[in-house]
Amino acid sequence: MPLIKNPLIVALDVNTVDEAVALASALAPYTGAFKVGMQLFNSAGPEAVHRLIERKASVFVDLKLHDIPNTVAGAARALTRHGAAIFNVHAAGGPVMMQEAANAARDEAGKAGVKPPLVIAVTVLTSIDEDMFNQKLGIPGTIEERVVAWARLAKEAGMDGVVASPKEITAIREACGKDFLIITPGVRPLGAAANDQKRTMTPGEAIRLGASYLVVGRPVTAAPDPVAAAKAILQEIGA
Ligand code: C5P
Repeated sequence: MPLIKNPLIVALDVNTVDEAVALASALAPYTGAFKVGMQLFNSAGPEAVHRLIERKASVFVDLKLHDIPNTVAGAARALTRHGAAIFNVHAAGGPVMMQEAANAARDEAGKAGVKPPLVIAVTVLTSIDEDMFNQKLGIPGTIEERVVAWARLAKEAGMDGVVASPKEITAIREACGKDFLIITPGVRPLGAAANDQKRTMTPGEAIRLGASYLVVGRPVTAAPDPVAAAKAILQEIGA
């Protein structure tokens, strides 16, 4: 399955295509894919995706789609036409929404004669801790129980994998098997600032527990030397 051999995905959370391309050019030898998220996509539009693909990068379009099934299916078709290698939807949108997103992406890729993107479900955001989950959002049970339940639902709905915190990798692997992709943000090399992430782990720990890909943003892009930061992560995970 791995479309992307290097497990490091760098989040290009910047405002302009020029900044994104400069980072991607420097980091390309050390990175499996680049993530275009809400900040860059909403600032620069699909051109950001196109310009990275022109440079032979694999692009994870992280827009966390969450709407009624028909609307999400339309967006899934558009992201497939833009050439996304990976895109994601919220598991909380439900099984019909997830199924329609996956079907739409595969159908659109078939029409275009291209490889279908990996369609991934976001479980519980890594910036949410148990207190916020139970007290502020009013959701009962543990985060791990909810993540595993949504991962099972995502697998049944035809998703290729999930986004989850490294803390939930073991439980997801047990529930969903070895071929289900687990993409983990909330990864922090030793000594790096946690920023707004709450459920974190080091890159090496996440890979050893069975993460398929690691999404790392600020510890690389805001480092004084992003290339050195990316190389240190690869060294830690033994890639
Ligand atoms: O800078 P940092 O390493 O915290 O960036 C993590 C990236 O992963 C961000 O682009 C964020 O949008 C994304 N992400 C996340 N938690 C999720 C899903 C995506 O942090 N559950």
